[in-house]
Amino acid sequence: MVQPGKMPQHVGIIMDGNGRWAGMRGFPRVEGHRMGAERAREIISASSDLGLKCLTLYAFSMENWQRPENEISVLMKLLEIYLRKELEEFQRLNIRYRAIGEKWRLPESILALIKETEEATAENTGTTVVSALSYGGRNEILRAVRQAVTSGMKAEDIDEESFSGLLDTAGLPPVDLIIRTSGEIRISNFLLWQAAYAELYFTDIFWPDFTKEEFLRAISDYQMRERRFGTVSAKEF
Ligand code: IPE
Ligand code: IPE
Ligand code: MG
Repeated sequence: MVQPGKMPQHVGIIMDGNGRWAGMRGFPRVEGHRMGAERAREIISASSDLGLKCLTLYAFSMENWQRPENEISVLMKLLEIYLRKELEEFQRLNIRYRAIGEKWRLPESILALIKETEEATAENTGTTVVSALSYGGRNEILRAVRQAVTSGMKAEDIDEESFSGLLDTAGLPPVDLIIRTSGEIRISNFLLWQAAYAELYFTDIFWPDFTKEEFLRAISDYQMRERRFGTVSAKEF
C-alpha cells in the first residue's frame, strides 16, 4: 500500500526489456516498443493520480544511437506518433512536459513536436513528465561543464547548487527513486549526477509488463527504506 505522506518527489524509470518481451512471444522488437509506449501512458496516468511531482522516463539513450538503423527509425516513428497523440491527454491531466538530452540529434519533426508540447504545457501545474531522449548522463555533465566555461563562470562560483542549475534537469526536484525493469542491474548512463543519493529498485519484469500495480509496488518498497544520507539512523539520535 502506498502511503500518501511518504511519496517520492521525483521517480526516474529505465524502461528496459521491450525487445526481450517481444522475442519471447515470437514478435518483432517493434511490437515490444509499441506495448512499451502503452505502458508509459499507463504509468504517466498513475503518476498523475498519485500526485507525483515529477516522473522521468528514459526512452532513448546516447548509446542507443548505435542500434541498427531500422530500429532507430522505428523508435523515432513511434515517438513521433506518441507525442502527436499525447498532447491532449497531458492537457487533460494538467501535466507539464519536458524533454532532456542532446536533443539536436533528434529528427526535425520530433524536435518540433517536443517544442510544441513543452510550450503548450508550460503553465500546467500537475505532474512534470520528463522524457530522456538522446540522453546520456556523462554527455549532460560535459555539456554543463562546457556551458560553465563558455559563459565565463568563475571557478569559485561553481558549487553543487550552481552546477545543478546547468544540467538538463535544472529546476526539477531531486531524484528520490530510480526503477529499472528487465533484470539488468546497471544504470546505463541515466541521471548520473542526480542518482548520487537516489534509492534504486530493480525488477525482473520486462517494461511492457510493468503495470500500475508494479509501479505501486516499487513505490511501497521505497517507502519502507530508511534514507540516511550518510548520517546515522534517526532512531539513534
Ligand atoms: C528498452 O528496451 C527500450 C529502449 C532502449 C529504446 P530494449 O529495446 O532495450 O529491449 P531489450 O533490452 O533488448 O529487451
Ligand atoms: C537503457 O536500456 C536505455 C533505455 C531504457 C532507454 P539499454 O537496453 O539501451 O541498456 P543496456 O544496453 O542494456 O545497458
Ligand atoms: Mg535493453
